[in-house]
Amino acid sequence: MKLPSRVQLIDVGPRDGLQNEKQPVPAAVKIELVQRLQGAGLKEIEVTSFVSPRWVPQMADNAEVMAGITRQPGVRYSVLVPNLKGWEAAARSRPDEIVVFGAASEAFSQKNINCSIAESIERFAPVVEAALAAGIGVRGAMSCTVGCPYEGEVSPERVAMLARLMKGIGVQRVDVADTIGTGTPRKVQRAIEATLTHFDIDDISGHFHDTYGQALSNTYAALEMGVWNFQSSVAGLGGCPYARGATGNVATEDLVYLLQGLGIETGVDLELLVDAGVFISAALGRKPNSRVATAILNKRG
Ligand code: HMG
Ligand code: MG
Repeated sequence: MKLPSRVQLIDVGPRDGLQNEKQPVPAAVKIELVQRLQGAGLKEIEVTSFVSPRWVPQMADNAEVMAGITRQPGVRYSVLVPNLKGWEAAARSRPDEIVVFGAASEAFSQKNINCSIAESIERFAPVVEAALAAGIGVRGAMSCTVGCPYEGEVSPERVAMLARLMKGIGVQRVDVADTIGTGTPRKVQRAIEATLTHFDIDDISGHFHDTYGQALSNTYAALEMGVWNFQSSVAGLGGCPYARGATGNVATEDLVYLLQGLGIETGVDLELLVDAGVFISAALGRKPNSRVATAILNKRG
């Protein structure tokens, strides 16, 4: 099996990572994190979300963060948008891509965005249309493609159904997300196979939370299928406020180390990335949640 020669990483730390933090994180810290990530060579960064500040207070400074970053040519800045109200606010910040986010499980859809899967697609449709008309890209996050914190195992048929609905409203590419990190390689491959019935391999990314320590194995399983877009969080930040017990995404540092070892190009400078992880972890009063960062920091002494 030939693995991809290049992988595009999307660091979702500023959004998926920080959304879950209880302590307030100043906008200036978020802005510096984004600067450091692009300085380390990341070409895609999920910066923030335009959701209800009552639901996710940590992202209430979305416009301030978007206005504060110094954009680098060749870097794609994305933001989450759940509805038209979010789109109107997000559009003023001129993201390169917006992310509508749905779920393969009904219960998670209700808990996360307060509507059914069908209703979510109805809400996303005009958002997708407006974004595409404005020349802004559209990604669709598909949560709970393997397991759901409320419904348990999720079948590939549910994933295929969500992928079909996303495709139907014009979403250009999708994330196969293991929101609670319960997935193992064959299960993740089945979710990707189901997505492949509606999207090309080039338009599918893997988004694996590392709750059960399976995210790197799941990444390898996805690489074997030809997936070459992956999402991860610097310093392993994160979790979803509506998926209790779910921990962060796979750490970007761990992913980069794996990919480098496989001879796969990422364009990321691991040392600078570790520095970015140390920066945000220090701001949060802890150490990076990354085995690779820990090893490199121990070696540095
Ligand atoms: P709702 O309460 O059903 O919305 O929430 P509503 O339309 O009934 O409006 C209620 C109030 O919210 C109104 O204000 C609206 O103006 C306001 P009021 O009149 O009461 O003062 N409102 C908004 N304010 C700002 N921005 C908006 C917005 N929309 C409504 N966009 C809603 C529905 C979707 C808004 C809410 O459920 C919400 O914000 N949820 C947040 C969900 C979220 O951010 N979850 C985490 C991200 S998803 C994730 O982490 C998973 C992912 O990483 C992949 C994976 O791992 O699975 C992507
Ligand atoms: Mg996530």
